[in-house]
Amino acid sequence: MSLLEIKDLKVTFKTGDGDVNAVNGLSLNVDAGETLAIVGESGSGKSQTAFATMGLLARNGAATGSVKFDGIELLGLSVKELNKVRSQQIAMIFQDPMTSLNPYLRISDQMAEVLTLHKGMTKKQAIAESVRMLDAVRIPDAKNRIRSFPHEFSGGMRQRIMIAMSLLCQPKLLIADEPTTALDVTVQAQIMQVLSDIRTDFGAAIILITHDLGVVAGFCDRTLVMYGGQIMEEGTTEEVFETPNHPYTRGLLRAVPRLDRDDASLATIAGEPPDMSHLPTGCPFSPRCAQVIADTCPSVRPPLETTANGRRRACHIPVSEVA
Ligand SMILES: Nc1ncnc2c1ncn2[C@@H]1O[C@H](COP(=O)(O)OP(=O)(O)OP(=O)(O)O)[C@@H](O)[C@H]1O
Ligand SMILES: [Mg+2]
Repeated sequence: MSLLEIKDLKVTFKTGDGDVNAVNGLSLNVDAGETLAIVGESGSGKSQTAFATMGLLARNGAATGSVKFDGIELLGLSVKELNKVRSQQIAMIFQDPMTSLNPYLRISDQMAEVLTLHKGMTKKQAIAESVRMLDAVRIPDAKNRIRSFPHEFSGGMRQRIMIAMSLLCQPKLLIADEPTTALDVTVQAQIMQVLSDIRTDFGAAIILITHDLGVVAGFCDRTLVMYGGQIMEEGTTEEVFETPNHPYTRGLLRAVPRLDRDDASLATIAGEPPDMSHLPTGCPFSPRCAQVIADTCPSVRPPLETTANGRRRACHIPVSEVA
């Protein structure tokens, strides 16, 4: 049994302009201690996959399918039961830490409250444990700095604090949704290092959601590529980067700046991201795919196939012909 098992997840939002199909039959597994990257362009359904898992969909959204965490079905759980899992076992960190930190409260109070509430610690124990977590994410002089307010920290430091907070209850799964997107490149690298240390020190499984393939390499065990709320392909990060099996992944990789290549060759994928209320019945990427097979791809959804070595892909074009 995997730690997280998502089966045939569909997320639909009701809007005045019709239904938005944000996630369309997605299945994935995350094992204990494993790191999975979910990548794809803006609007591909990455965040909604995470929100559905956490029971945090907007009010006009609904999820069907199955999301099992440690064998417990999360979809349809009461708020009370869900809160137990959410507060103690799964943690989520977001792109902008300021949206999750209370600007009017000292970090010490915000962190300690989590532990007094969920772990029954005394205030003193809670502060000591909070300092330990701030140390773990390398906040300098954590013992004193914990008395500061959020705005007294830089963006990168605030993100570290968020990570420290998410670790307080020692979650088995940490979902990081674009944790470094708002930060400059040097700080990005530092935050990725912190996440990497956490994986080693705390053994938490991590789902890293990002549109930036550059941060995935060297950090995630497996990479899952999403488009139009569906999986395009999945494999070990090395496989996906070295031998991408899908035209969309190839396009994404061509758009990643690399030091060993002339940046003039950087190419973006032509065309617009899909309209999630009017997806083609076939492959969602077909309108932008240079290799589209005109009488098949737009009309027939390619099945998600698993190859002998456990890689998955959904594409009508034979692997050997993907360019
Ligand atoms: N409350 C809502 N009502 C209607 N549509 C929504 C709602 N929330 C999200 N969507 C739509 O769901 C789709 C998937 O959104 P999602 O947030 O998962 O994208 P994403 O892959 O995380 O993109 P990004 O990289 O920009 O964060 C988008 O088309 C978005 O507009
Ligand atoms: Mg998102």
